[in-house]
Amino acid sequence: MHDPARTAPWSSPPCGDKRTLYADLANELDALLAGETSATANAANAAAAIYHSLPDVNWVGFYFLERDQLVLGPFQGLPACVRIPLGKGVCGTAAAERRSVVVTDVNSFPGHIACDPASRSELVVPLLAHDHLLGVLDLDSAKVARFDDEDRRGCETLAEVVIRHIAPGR
Ligand code: SME
Repeated sequence: MHDPARTAPWSSPPCGDKRTLYADLANELDALLAGETSATANAANAAAAIYHSLPDVNWVGFYFLERDQLVLGPFQGLPACVRIPLGKGVCGTAAAERRSVVVTDVNSFPGHIACDPASRSELVVPLLAHDHLLGVLDLDSAKVARFDDEDRRGCETLAEVVIRHIAPGR
């Protein structure tokens, strides 16, 4: 069970390098989600924890695969588009190609789906449980070029933590 009295990354301003921030966040996220069997509750707490831990993000959340569409899951940020066909937008591309997609400037990504007009860059990580596509983790920023390779690796680690707690045994 997570101890809310502990100093988690989401309860203090980020300090140190990105690698340390993501390593601490992955550990805290693991503790926060441990022992809870509701996938909805764990995805909701994961979205909140990530949103409040990373600087310069304006949207963090999940889309989950239902047949051939991604459907909006728990998130933090402005209301978003609910259904994204596989292969469409940044989310649908990451899901269809089963790889993380870093978009430096969303205006240069053909087919980008604008939910919050303030969003300027984006990172989408597929949620893969042993080759089984569950959905995606999507992060938006109002800053151009907010996400780099270190963010991609860090968020892939966070996605692995979330998968363990929303699809145990998969
Ligand atoms: N921009 C995404 C849509 C989801 S929102 O950013 C929350 C896309 O192009 O798939």
